[in-house]
Amino acid sequence: MQLSFTDIAAPFQSAGLRVRELHTLIDYHNRRYYQQDAPEISDAEYDALFRELQELEQRFPELVVPESPTQRVGSAALDGFQPVTHRLPMLSLDNATNSDEIRSKLDARVRKELGLPEGTALAYVCEPKMDGLAIELVYIDGLLTVAATRGDGLTGEDVTSNIRTLRGLPLRLHGDNIPPLLEVRGEVYLSLAAFQKINSDKQENGEPPFANPRNAAAGSLRQLDPRITARRPLSLFCYAPGFVEGSQFESQEEFLRTLESWGLPVNPLIRKVADIEGAVAYYQELQELRELLPYEIDGTVIKVDSYPLQRELGEKSRSPVWAIAAKFPPRQAETVLEDILLSVGRTGVITPVAQLTPVDISGVTVARATLHNWDEMAIKDIRIGDTVVIERAGDVIPAVVRVLTERRSGVERFLPPPETCPECGSAVVRIADEVALRCMGLSCPPQIRESIKHFASRGAMDIDGLGDRFIEQLLSLGLVHNVADLYTLTKADFMRFERMGETLAANLLAALEASKQRELYRFIFALGIRHVGERTAKTIAQAFGNLDDLQKASLSELTSIRDIGATVAQSIRTFFDTSDNLNIIRRMQEAGVTLSVATKKVGGRLSGKSFVFTGTLTRFTRDSARKLVEDEGGNVVGSVSRKTDYLVAGDEAGSKLNKARDLGVTVLDEEAFLLLLEKL
Ligand code: IVH
Repeated sequence: MQLSFTDIAAPFQSAGLRVRELHTLIDYHNRRYYQQDAPEISDAEYDALFRELQELEQRFPELVVPESPTQRVGSAALDGFQPVTHRLPMLSLDNATNSDEIRSKLDARVRKELGLPEGTALAYVCEPKMDGLAIELVYIDGLLTVAATRGDGLTGEDVTSNIRTLRGLPLRLHGDNIPPLLEVRGEVYLSLAAFQKINSDKQENGEPPFANPRNAAAGSLRQLDPRITARRPLSLFCYAPGFVEGSQFESQEEFLRTLESWGLPVNPLIRKVADIEGAVAYYQELQELRELLPYEIDGTVIKVDSYPLQRELGEKSRSPVWAIAAKFPPRQAETVLEDILLSVGRTGVITPVAQLTPVDISGVTVARATLHNWDEMAIKDIRIGDTVVIERAGDVIPAVVRVLTERRSGVERFLPPPETCPECGSAVVRIADEVALRCMGLSCPPQIRESIKHFASRGAMDIDGLGDRFIEQLLSLGLVHNVADLYTLTKADFMRFERMGETLAANLLAALEASKQRELYRFIFALGIRHVGERTAKTIAQAFGNLDDLQKASLSELTSIRDIGATVAQSIRTFFDTSDNLNIIRRMQEAGVTLSVATKKVGGRLSGKSFVFTGTLTRFTRDSARKLVEDEGGNVVGSVSRKTDYLVAGDEAGSKLNKARDLGVTVLDEEAFLLLLEKL
């Protein structure tokens, strides 16, 4: 047979269409997830789209374009950052520290400069002052071309490959009237949750932690290897124009709204106000809201809304006259470090914790701060009795920033690292290349307590109702010694708790029973294997599909999996080479713990299609029907909705059939279903 041109071109053309469709879909879901915090599809569905795109690009490399979502983490490590000169200098802002200063240093000054008579209102735009790093994005013909740090304001560093990894940031802008050259300035930041996660991973790995989210964001952005940056969930909000060719903007409000329409992230808390009193009210409101925000802010930036007026006002000593940073009280305070306690975590890491003379930091009393580890204590020369500066950020555990050595009286004393575990007396070791000290005791009480809490937690086995308080009681009554013991508990055991009723005891038992059926990745995560967080657990669950194969996997099998490096592989092997761990797992399996894996064939004929089965099926069982659908990349769900693609109705189908008909969902009988699958 001879192939014609169309035979060859047709698959390429349809792949091209699908690739563009996938760009749009993935960008859209990135925005829902990273900008709006309102995902519409599951991680698995997102991954399926991404993999489909990767597969198509592999088959048709000509279809790979720089703005493809697969190209975010492209280049290998750099030798260093290249300098970038800003077309317009990146200015700094004058500060105000209270409402009166907002009035005098901004409004009064602006009115004087403009010669505005008393009583005329001047509109301002009020924005949260993000505590991160300023960045300039250069879009040429809508394509992200360069991203640079602020540097000294005139010249920054080229961090384009790192900025490209920010999934909330569009690589290509979409919309009307996009200028051929558009420079946008904004702030790169890390959420408090991401900061906490990075620091606890660092702690686990025995690396020095970051002092605050801003340093963590800076450290993540200034990585020479973009693959490391890609693993740090950095975010960004845009807030100011740089050089814009043929700028058509009349006001800050219009500028921000236009950025949003092009797909750029803009802080939703930004508000235009009619006059300076509106700005003062915003500053006060935001200060209260600060405690609830998922990221750090250190004030409000207040800007004259009108661009013509901004131009008229200009700048003085490297700060614009038309804006001010109204700062919040610092999150730092001085206090005395009275003592150092030792806390033992789930994996045996011993953390020194400072006990402080209680001090108020913007409304929150702080009595403890983490000292991270003995290397950190040595670097900062922290001693018991010292006067220290501490810093807090949101709910993150406060940290000691520095010691005021000039306040020493001479009685302060250094606390040497412990040789034995303060909780169980076992030997303490410091593993090569790590800063953390670890208790090696297998039956160390706090390690057991924390590992059971982790096992029962929502992201892990999700044992509903079994919170910290009940776990403490189970331990103190000697009812559990490890996670496998949980599945031997009876109602009578729970009835021994203080103030326990029949119903609650029955509920706890039912929750334990329900937790026996879980997805494999949850179980792997719940085991608390070092270096295996939820994401890694998902990766390995998907790769092995069952626990037996994972338990037997060799180091080279493990490291052949994407994202699994030598450290993680070794840690998994060590875990499964420990006979105590195998015993615990075997006991749980004997108690009925059954693990499932959601397998999904990507790009199968039923990819993205959802099925509901109803009525009595005679040609196949429910389970085999599910498998048939899933093997082709489809989904089986329990109830009919507008999103259902097919209802497969057996005999005596009832309400689901009626609903499907009402909603116009395609109804298939068993024959038609098999025909669809080409199995007949
Ligand atoms: S506007 C000329 N808006 O604050 C005006 N800056 O102290 C330039 N910042 O370097 C900045 N949030 O890193 C502006 N909503 C916001 C901001 C903001 C944070 C930072 C920015 C700048 C510094 C100035």
